[in-house]
Amino acid sequence: MNILNTRFVRGFVKMADDGFQQGWHERNGGNLSYRLKEEEVQHILPRLMDHGTWQPIGTSVPGLAGEYFLVTGSGKYFRNVIVDPEACIAIIELDDKGENYRIRWGLVEGGKPTSELPAHLMNHEVKKRVTDGKHRVIYHAHTTNVIALTFILPLKDEIFTRELWESATECPVVFPGGVGVVPWMVPGGRDIAVATSALMEKYDAAIWAHHGMFCSGEDFDLTFGLMHTIEKSAEILLKVYSVRPDKLQTITAENLRAVASSFNVTLPERFLYEK
Ligand code: 13P
Ligand code: ZN
Repeated sequence: MNILNTRFVRGFVKMADDGFQQGWHERNGGNLSYRLKEEEVQHILPRLMDHGTWQPIGTSVPGLAGEYFLVTGSGKYFRNVIVDPEACIAIIELDDKGENYRIRWGLVEGGKPTSELPAHLMNHEVKKRVTDGKHRVIYHAHTTNVIALTFILPLKDEIFTRELWESATECPVVFPGGVGVVPWMVPGGRDIAVATSALMEKYDAAIWAHHGMFCSGEDFDLTFGLMHTIEKSAEILLKVYSVRPDKLQTITAENLRAVASSFNVTLPERFLYEK
């Protein structure tokens, strides 16, 4: 089957375009990766090329040895993914140690996978383990309002989680585990990948101070929806702060507990502190 017509490539391309339409992907900002299912690999195997050279990932992900990923290319613009996917995205294969990758499809005009490949793959490795293989999508976006919040709120998981939960009623249902925060770090390397993947042990979303956010999910809809929900909550919060420095009323810890019980989710107590 033509790789461009597969369901997972179409879902990937649509998600990249949805993110661009939201304004989260200026220039080459952001990146996206998807861990292929075994049957998807089998389906496209005859159409993959076999002469790509092995390149170091820049970190070690033995839990992903031999797996295939669809990823955005480094320096490629999200706005161009829908126009020319074969030039902007690639399918890569990992070696049997999870230390090297090679390109099996895509990036037809040259290039390499996103500079955040270590963060994507280390996040995938954690999520594959803690979700029993359910999570397949890792998404990094330059979400404007979340980035703005990292200049005005203390960079603490408890504070970001509570403020975001308080800003829109359905937030605690969409991300009951909360969000983690990575302090400002140099992007693109192993260090920020290690810090982010440590947070992915317990969260599905990690904010990068003054940079953006990483989200993980089972499929494109859930992962995009998580990014969208958190960013919208941040937008509401910023609007509130812009109008007046203090809130006249809010969603209380008691309200959050009531939502949790009604929607059958568990909210960690450490986020429900008295204010
Ligand atoms: P890439 O173009 O290498 O994916 O980098 C974009 C980015 O957002 C880095 O954090
Ligand atoms: Zn970035």
